[in-house]
Amino acid sequence: MPGTASAHSPASPALPGAGRTAVVTGASSGIGAATATRLAADGFDVVLGARRLDRLTALADSIGARALPLDITDQASVDAFASALDRIDVLVNNAGGSFDAKPVAEADLDSWQRAFEVNVLGSVAMTRALLPALRASGAGDLVFVGSTAGLTSYEGGASYTAAKHGVHTLAETLRLELVYDPVRVVEIAPGMVKTEEFSLNRTRSQERTDAVYRGVREPLVAEDVADCIAWAVTRPHHVNVDLLVVRPRAQAAQHKVARED
Ligand SMILES: NC(=O)c1ccc[n+]([C@@H]2O[C@H](COP(=O)([O-])OP(=O)(O)OC[C@H]3O[C@@H](n4cnc5c(N)ncnc54)[C@H](OP(=O)(O)O)[C@@H]3O)[C@@H](O)[C@H]2O)c1
Repeated sequence: MPGTASAHSPASPALPGAGRTAVVTGASSGIGAATATRLAADGFDVVLGARRLDRLTALADSIGARALPLDITDQASVDAFASALDRIDVLVNNAGGSFDAKPVAEADLDSWQRAFEVNVLGSVAMTRALLPALRASGAGDLVFVGSTAGLTSYEGGASYTAAKHGVHTLAETLRLELVYDPVRVVEIAPGMVKTEEFSLNRTRSQERTDAVYRGVREPLVAEDVADCIAWAVTRPHHVNVDLLVVRPRAQAAQHKVARED
């Protein structure tokens, strides 16, 4: 019968993530949630980690994944998360954020500390905890969600740009240190991505958040970055996507954004 599967239909090709387990940090919103969703659709067994367990569990249930509480800035939480996992093939170090927009002369050291703790130290703690399992998988992937802020500096952004430059250096260093191990190190560096919470955490004002995206016809959305991550971790394992810089077409550079109003 036309359109109906039969014993003679060709078998559907295996999904690219079949048999692999992926951990996504910061999966309760934005890029992390989109990445967890995409990797689950690609056949990965996905484990979501973040602090807001209600959001995490709702998403995990809807995509057939597993949610575990995780605060990457708390070593006991990282240890408990790691000990709940048997196998890990992919770690997406996505949890991060920016917490102020002040010039250095008015630096808020609490924001600097938060930025370094979550973007840099948290990624180091997760990497250290899960690296043995990534090595043991025989074909591990260590993905860092960096930023174009990790490659370029701009005024009023130093607590974040300095932290994301730290993430960039961390990825470069690990690639050197792990060259004899079966673990790829991938950095995805997005430009402007319109997510629900990122700019709000930075500006603490809906008006200033709206101004970030005002007149930009098509900023990236979380699913665009998830697509890049999924692509990078589903290449043949000898292909290492070192650094993937991805911006909306309207953002030619950090300071050059086409706005329509
Ligand atoms: N949006 C952009 O324009 C943009 C551009 C370039 C790069 N990035 C990077 O992309 C990543 C995701 O950004 P996003 O836009 O999706 O932001 P977001 O929506 O604010 O997501 C941040 C995620 O990190 C989690 N998180 C924060 N602190 C954590 C902690 N201590 N332990 C565990 N999880 C923690 C949050 O969950 P809980 O609060 O539930 O813990 C949340 O799920 C970040 O690393 C960001 O720097 C964003």
